[in-house]
Amino acid sequence: MDSRRKFLGKIGLTIGAFPFFNDSLIAAVRQADQGDPEAFWYQVQKAYYQTPKFINLENGYFSPQPTETLKAHAEYQRMINEMPSWFMRRMQREEKTRVKQQLAEFAGVSPDEIAVTRNTTESLDTVILGLKMEKGEEAVMTDQDYLSMVEAFRQKAKREGIVNRMISLPLWPKSDDEIVDAYEKAITKKTRVILVTHLINLTGQVLPVRKISDMAHRYGVEVICDSAHAFAQLDFEIPELGCDYYGASLHKWLCTPLGAGILWVKKEKISRVWPLFGDDTYGEDDIRKFEHIGTHPVHTNLAISNALRFHNTIGSKRKQDRLRQLRKYWTDQVKDLPKVTLNMPLDVDRSSALGNISIEGYSPNELSEYFHEKHNIFTVAINRDSVKGVRVTPHLYTTFSDLDKFVEAVKQA
Ligand SMILES: Cc1ncc(COP(=O)(O)O)c(C=O)c1O
Repeated sequence: MDSRRKFLGKIGLTIGAFPFFNDSLIAAVRQADQGDPEAFWYQVQKAYYQTPKFINLENGYFSPQPTETLKAHAEYQRMINEMPSWFMRRMQREEKTRVKQQLAEFAGVSPDEIAVTRNTTESLDTVILGLKMEKGEEAVMTDQDYLSMVEAFRQKAKREGIVNRMISLPLWPKSDDEIVDAYEKAITKKTRVILVTHLINLTGQVLPVRKISDMAHRYGVEVICDSAHAFAQLDFEIPELGCDYYGASLHKWLCTPLGAGILWVKKEKISRVWPLFGDDTYGEDDIRKFEHIGTHPVHTNLAISNALRFHNTIGSKRKQDRLRQLRKYWTDQVKDLPKVTLNMPLDVDRSSALGNISIEGYSPNELSEYFHEKHNIFTVAINRDSVKGVRVTPHLYTTFSDLDKFVEAVKQA
């Protein structure tokens, strides 16, 4: 028995085995498999506690945790608080390694290629700012990428003299080729890297990352994938994307506590990126150099394990299909209404839980306020040059009756 187990045995604890598991959910999976999906989804809805004060259709910022993850997180915090430095000095490393292995398995990659970070911004800003580039080398990005990543590239341009090329993406692409071509046209002899957003947060559009990566690699250009919204929302594993660097937030669709992210770097590329926080504890090609963030809330790392368990009970494909079903439920009912525009592609493979609507005569802010004040429905206004509308994002706990109320609000508007 190792010393950790002896100690835990003495105090009666086994980390990773806190029993907050929702048995009714496991039973309900059988109901779904036997052809009663709504009985299953009813149990999933009950697995989250959400305020009855308003209908929340703004689940794009981050996801609530299911109650079992919330409880496990609190319990880990209590446990670490009871044996603070002991845990940090004697147990933290082993526990974090265990969680990392589970996360790597879920993502379909080796634990030697992932770092657990605090969010997508940390993951990708580490790559963007740390990537060794020469003055005059170019980066390609779009007018629909997340601003934190674009800002990191702008800072890199000021500091290191790289050149940023911004392209425009269609809201309603007719084919994957149309999107791949848009990136390809921006490539020059000096292009070094492309930033691709896997699932665009403004509209919910899903981009063909694999095709963009394959095209970029033909020119010797590397690909950074911003998968903040796609991880644990869409059913895929990281290697399928063919990118070189990958970042996502776990507090979005994996439903972990706030402040958890993943950075994946292809093994042979790790040494090409400087860590954000100085590190010479690990080698240049050791992914752990990116985890040098000092003392942090380790109970959040531990709860990733519970979030994975909840997610895997539902299953990635079932979750992806349900989220698309909820989105389709409302968009089908409003898409042909006069004055309504859906600022997103509706084909299944290009869509996700997120949608974007505008109504003639309303600015994005006015429309979002109208939903809130007149119908008690919370959404968010999107006011970018590239997209103007209101983002509407149901979650697994959203009911069809919630969406009926939203559809009625659109009709009244
Ligand atoms: C596409 C995209 N990238 C990056 C981020 C940043 O995520 P975080 O704030 O968790 O770092 C977001 C947040 O909404 C996003 O939508």
